[in-house]
Amino acid sequence: MRSSVLFLLVVFALVFGTFFFRMRIEDDSRRADEEKLRVLSKQARRVRQFLEHGGIESAGADMIRQFGAMSEDPTLRIALLVSANCNVLAANPPELVALSAAEALRRSGESPALAAEIPDARKPGGTRASIESDRAIVLSPVQIPGRPVILAVRSVAETRAAVRRDVSSQTAALALIFLALIAALWTWLEVALNRRIRRLVDAAARFAVDDLEARARLGGNDELALAGRAFDAMADSVAQTRMRLLESEARVRLLLDSTAEGLCGLDLSGRITFCNPAALRLLHVAHPGQLLGSAFYDLLRLPGSEQTLDKAWVDLALQTRARVEQELSLPCPDGTVLAVHHSGGPVLLQGVLVGRVVTLTDLTGKKRAEEELRKSQAQLRMADRLATVGTLSAGVAHEINNPLAYTLANLGYVAERLRELPGTPDCAEVVTAVEEATEGAERVRRIVKDMKTLSRVDDETIGAVDVERALDASVNMALHELRHKATVMKDYAGVGFARANEGRLVQVFLNLLVNAAQAIATTQPDHNEVRIATCLDAEGRVAVEISDTGAGIPEDVLPRIFDPFFTTKPLGVGTGLGLSICHSLITAVGGHIEVASKVGVGTRFLIILPSVAQEPAGAAVRPAA
Ligand SMILES: Nc1ncnc2c1ncn2[C@@H]1O[C@H](COP(=O)(O)OP(=O)(O)OP(=O)(O)O)[C@@H](O)[C@H]1O
Ligand SMILES: [Mg+2]
Repeated sequence: MRSSVLFLLVVFALVFGTFFFRMRIEDDSRRADEEKLRVLSKQARRVRQFLEHGGIESAGADMIRQFGAMSEDPTLRIALLVSANCNVLAANPPELVALSAAEALRRSGESPALAAEIPDARKPGGTRASIESDRAIVLSPVQIPGRPVILAVRSVAETRAAVRRDVSSQTAALALIFLALIAALWTWLEVALNRRIRRLVDAAARFAVDDLEARARLGGNDELALAGRAFDAMADSVAQTRMRLLESEARVRLLLDSTAEGLCGLDLSGRITFCNPAALRLLHVAHPGQLLGSAFYDLLRLPGSEQTLDKAWVDLALQTRARVEQELSLPCPDGTVLAVHHSGGPVLLQGVLVGRVVTLTDLTGKKRAEEELRKSQAQLRMADRLATVGTLSAGVAHEINNPLAYTLANLGYVAERLRELPGTPDCAEVVTAVEEATEGAERVRRIVKDMKTLSRVDDETIGAVDVERALDASVNMALHELRHKATVMKDYAGVGFARANEGRLVQVFLNLLVNAAQAIATTQPDHNEVRIATCLDAEGRVAVEISDTGAGIPEDVLPRIFDPFFTTKPLGVGTGLGLSICHSLITAVGGHIEVASKVGVGTRFLIILPSVAQEPAGAAVRPAA
């Protein structure tokens, strides 16, 4: 645009310059010729006046004075005073005098034909002044006797050349002024217009590549400034719309990113078009690029199947307008299989099905919770049964006590009477049998007594309890578990009494001993040991240590062993309540229980109980004899 304007200006300048040049040359040349002719006529007139008043004698001098010496004015070609018989009476230059007019003209390099016009000039009104070619010619008759004629010729070539020079220099000056104007216009275009246009174009270009801050900010009131302001207003509005769009996009993205369900968009052929981070996690993929474009249903299986999903099923799941809910399994790279809930809904665009959005929900947690609930319910049922057994055993112990009392009394009576009988060979055997029966009955009595201690549900009295005696009672009851597994070592320091409830304390020790026995896998008592030790700690509290050489407890299991219903034992063997009850019983009396264990080495439980320095009168609760 700018170049075209400049080109047009230059063309216009050339055309106008040429036209102006030619016009001026013609005009000025014509004016110079006329001037020349006027001067020549005036000179001739003055010579004529001199001749008419002064006579012909001074004609030569007048010719030279009026027309000027040729040496001073080279434009004078010739000036002659020609007689009636065409001889030269006076001349400038003077050497032409006395020659015929034709000869004089020839010698001066003028056309001799001019001599033929001289006679006509003598006629009335014969004065002639004209321009012929590059000459001004004046023929003027003098009104004196003989009527000589003045013939003067001057060259106009020099004045024409001078005019041409003048016009050329004027044209050059004009051209220079014009060029200066063009340069000024160029500068204005460049500086004022172009810079502002470039600002507008730059702003538009930056805006196009997402620079929402880009504005032209053009000052002024011209058309360009209006265009700039229109652009800025449009950019403001687009930027605001864009910001709103970005905000809403960010909200959607946040929603997709924070949802726990894996979310994938599918096209109609089942290829993944987008996915959220939860989907990447579920499908064990680091980057969306690894997932986009892959066939979604190729990643899933029907539960329990190792085959890819049936094509007919996949086609139906993709084409239906209904929601598809299905539990599926997802094979993982580590070989495990994840149970997932699949829910796929149609994506409709103006009523046309264009794809699907599917969600995948990890069912592992749900399944684990269901399994734990099932286990807990079984353990609760077991605990309930055990509680019933405990209550029953208290009743059974009570019922056994009376017959046992008279069985023992009668056995004592029989033994006594046998000793009084005269000795017979069989008598010794009968005595031995009675002694064995008495020992057996005695053991039953001890067990019954211990069971009564353990199951004394109504007696929660806290008092002084003989700790080592409670330990012995517990060992007695656990003996059937321990006997085949380990050697029981007792290391009592005679710690005396602790503040506790005897029945509950026996329950705690019994659980620890049974746990120790169950932790020992082999049935080689010589190779394993369950050690029971007591001592008073630095603060005078009673410390009981029960340690075993069993399997030990793994580090990850250790923090959970005091949790209710936590067990590693098969259903029916353990309920997981033992240690949690131990913990609450011990802390209830102001003591505490600690554990240390190493897998393959064994486990050690330490129980700290508040001691009773002196047995308070009547407060000590001793198991009944
Ligand atoms: N001496 C031990 N050696 C190894 N593991 C032990 C020992 N004592 C306890 N544990 C672990 O602690 C778990 C919890 O013990 P706890 O006594 O509370 O329950 P349980 O013995 O499994 O069942 P319950 O005592 O109710 O019959 C056990 O399942 C076992 O894994
Ligand atoms: Mg236990």
